[in-house]
Amino acid sequence: MNVEVLKSNISDNYFYLLADEEGRAAVVDPIDAGHAVSRVRSKGYELEWLINTHFHPDHIGGNQEVLEAFPDARVVTGRDDAEAIDSHFSGSEQRGVDETVAAGDVVDVGEISLDVLETPGHTPGHISLLHEHHLFSGDTIFVGGAGNCSFGGDARVLFYTFRDVLNTLPPETVFYPGHDYAIRNAKFLLSIEPEHPETLQVLEEAKRARREERLMKTTLGRERAYNAFLRYDDPELRTALSRRHGDRLQKFRDDSDGEDEAVFRCLRSLRNEW
Ligand SMILES: [Fe+2]
Repeated sequence: MNVEVLKSNISDNYFYLLADEEGRAAVVDPIDAGHAVSRVRSKGYELEWLINTHFHPDHIGGNQEVLEAFPDARVVTGRDDAEAIDSHFSGSEQRGVDETVAAGDVVDVGEISLDVLETPGHTPGHISLLHEHHLFSGDTIFVGGAGNCSFGGDARVLFYTFRDVLNTLPPETVFYPGHDYAIRNAKFLLSIEPEHPETLQVLEEAKRARREERLMKTTLGRERAYNAFLRYDDPELRTALSRRHGDRLQKFRDDSDGEDEAVFRCLRSLRNEW
């Protein structure tokens, strides 16, 4: 699989163009349609799919223009976000979703099989796509962080996505997120664990990547070593969180189903205000 990381010129998003050896391609969340169309054309790809990980406007906003350029491409998204995308594109000339998918389904891009994972929490119907060790994860996980739950999301649901989906994938899994919040995320993590060596290292790497105008890539294995949202059961993190934000954590304990969930939701709530 060829994967190209594309930076939007009209927003702070990253999006992705993937293709098999024959040039049969899919584009994931092409907010910047001009950029997407010109890359597909210059590569000579045949665009089969436009994949929306979720319904937010900064992920679906380029759909119509991409479809005008490649009318044979089909739009696919998760079952529970499809209605929101269709209502966003309710004009008579506009196209909505052609196909909906759920966990266990496969999106075939030429020779490439993308396994559909349901990763709700940022939105109710958010999906991620997995091929071998490549995960197109939309706004579920970021370098050093987790998706926000402020626009149709639910932190409790996102916790179960982290525990039951992301934390069960192999450590070598590389993920491709929709945004680069690495520097801010690392600084937030350091506000809880100021001496954490891996986070300090990530902060430096993220600054270098920003200077070079590229997205810093990590793996789920590396994230598990420092990203607090994957470490809800780590005793050192729990101690640090209790020491600095004990009152907040207690509030979440009172209506969470266990300490892991309370820790995750407490972190998400702190990050909202940070
Ligand atoms: Fe989003």
